Amino acid sequence: MTIDAPTLSDAQIRQLADRLDRPIVLVGMMGVGKSTVGRKLAALLGLDFRDADEEIEAAAQMSVSEIFERFGEDYFRDGERRVIARLIEGGRAVIATGGGAFMQDETRKLILERGIAVWLDSDVDTLVQRVGRKDTRPLLRGGDPREIIARLKAEREPFYAEAPIHVSSGNGPHGEAVTRILQELGRCL
Ligand code: S3P
Repeated sequence: MTIDAPTLSDAQIRQLADRLDRPIVLVGMMGVGKSTVGRKLAALLGLDFRDADEEIEAAAQMSVSEIFERFGEDYFRDGERRVIARLIEGGRAVIATGGGAFMQDETRKLILERGIAVWLDSDVDTLVQRVGRKDTRPLLRGGDPREIIARLKAEREPFYAEAPIHVSSGNGPHGEAVTRILQELGRCL
């Protein structure tokens, strides 16, 4: 049985938004729903939403897949680091990062120091199901998506666990994850 998290009133959400002095930065595996959850969270808090992958694509005038294909992962990570630094510099906002960004020492340090990192987490089955809807992720092209996701999740978890807020989104609607993030923010701020 799932117990619905009690929702917050508009006034409570407004108070939270007023107390916020840093960007909220969503980290976690591909397919977990960082962009969808991030957009909803930003709308509720009255903040801008920024998607790091979209910003990288806009800056490079190329898709993430094309960047990986033409220039390789190291080049992508370098652009990702610069874009995330710029987004964090922008202050209050909700920022969704690509699943590998938080593995980069410099980026992780910056997010932890200057933002509020939120690890959005799901089980492997849910992630596999969600990534299956799009063929835009270069890291999944070289083999069995389930195997790659399970391996990356295991490798990355110790890093994601450094985020002060951890919310499991499971297979349920993204709105539940948004509510839980708001509650956790209430405890942190
Ligand atoms: C990656 C995740 C992707 C994107 C790139 C690499 C990763 O973002 O940044 O394909 O290393 O996990 P999403 O997490 O938004 O899919």
